[in-house]
Amino acid sequence: MRAVVVYESMYGNTHLVADAIGTGLSSAFEVSVIPVAHADAAILAGADLVVVGGPTHAHGMSRASTRKAAVEAADKPVSPLKVEPDALGPGLREWFGSLGRYPVMAAAFDTRVHAPAALTGRASKGVAQSLRAHGFRVIADPASFLVTRQDRLEPQETDRAREWGTRLAAQASLGQAQGAQS
Ligand SMILES: Cc1cc2nc3c(=O)[nH]c(=O)nc-3n(C[C@H](O)[C@H](O)[C@H](O)COP(=O)(O)O)c2cc1C
Repeated sequence: MRAVVVYESMYGNTHLVADAIGTGLSSAFEVSVIPVAHADAAILAGADLVVVGGPTHAHGMSRASTRKAAVEAADKPVSPLKVEPDALGPGLREWFGSLGRYPVMAAAFDTRVHAPAALTGRASKGVAQSLRAHGFRVIADPASFLVTRQDRLEPQETDRAREWGTRLAAQASLGQAQGAQS
């Protein structure tokens, strides 16, 4: 079985989480972890499970304006942050805009600041809605992985992401078996 993890990341945190989820999924899947800028239709062809995540910007998925702000913040001389290749986009929002329909299993995740979700918002909520709108069968609740206010992944979050990936793999294997029976 094949799983594809598509991620967006400005400062590398969501990239780390995506890699850790991929490691967890590899317990049951052949896994590709792909930045959204390179996630063309050919990558999704034949995938049994698609996992999609990005950073929370302005309470939801990034936009061109928030990605620009993220790059400008990192460009300040005092900033220790480095931006990922392709940080300016396209982001997940644009990716969904050009995506077809995929009746396969899927799940959503995000990174966000470590504070109550009611205050921070969660990009994964919009990601899950967009997945459903494109025909995906979302098989897990959206998951958030937490960063500090200085944009560093909290300790344990890569372990938690790997464990989430492992659980998702088990759930997807079950879903695949049930689908084959019906
Ligand atoms: C322009 C901008 C807006 C942001 N807005 C939010 C927000 O509304 N809620 C939140 O939890 N985090 C917010 N953040 C923090 C991001 O969630 C954080 O930078 C991201 O999770 C780090 O992931 P990355 O390293 O993969 O980019 C914002 C960051 C930027 C640059």
